[in-house]
Amino acid sequence: MFVNQNSPLKLAILGSGKGSNARALIEASRQAQLHYEVVLLITDISNAGILTLGEEFQIPSYYFNSGSFKTKFAPEREQELVTLLHKANIDFIALAGFMRVIKEPLLAGFPKRILNIHPSLLPHFPGLKAWQQAIDAGASESGCTVHLVDHGIDTGEILGQTRVPIFRNDTAETLHVRIQEAEHSLYPHITDTFAKNLLHKKETISNPNYTVENSDCRIP
Ligand code: GRF
Repeated sequence: MFVNQNSPLKLAILGSGKGSNARALIEASRQAQLHYEVVLLITDISNAGILTLGEEFQIPSYYFNSGSFKTKFAPEREQELVTLLHKANIDFIALAGFMRVIKEPLLAGFPKRILNIHPSLLPHFPGLKAWQQAIDAGASESGCTVHLVDHGIDTGEILGQTRVPIFRNDTAETLHVRIQEAEHSLYPHITDTFAKNLLHKKETISNPNYTVENSDCRIP
């Protein structure tokens, strides 16, 4: 990776859904001079909402046929994606609601360069519908976590978290909305810090300074 310390790092976002976190990452980088710029949007779902962000913000956005598996890439397709991302000079990747498990081709192509946001305070409630898991467990708080992607499901190194309270009358839906509000602040903040540290060629990505413990989301 060639890094010019004067220009922001090139970020590709992979998402499968409506793209509210992708929007937050793009808007933050358009509103202030950050250490990353979103240069590519990729989705595995042909009609994903995230594609419309490309038109709105004039960012190349593509549907990428990931093969016939539902929860992972076909290995040869994942390798093709790596080639595509390298050709586009992508420095690092942010998963934003991307529903496929990342395997070796991408992990090896972007070692310690893939971030994800998860809607719980990991290591609690990994996996699907983490907000529903928190309600079902009777938890009094949850939150969101930005972490590095590794071979496991939501097991990679934690880069930052925001706590979100759970109220007695919360449903899974109201909690999810509150968690997403927190996500939209946390993800750009951590992504910028991550890019800044990469630009400054810090060897260690782990840094307790990343952690954001207080929730700045609106509490109804
Ligand atoms: C977010 O809640 C994120 O934590 C999870 O998937 C959801 C994606 O939502 N990984 P969006 O597409 O960014 O709105």
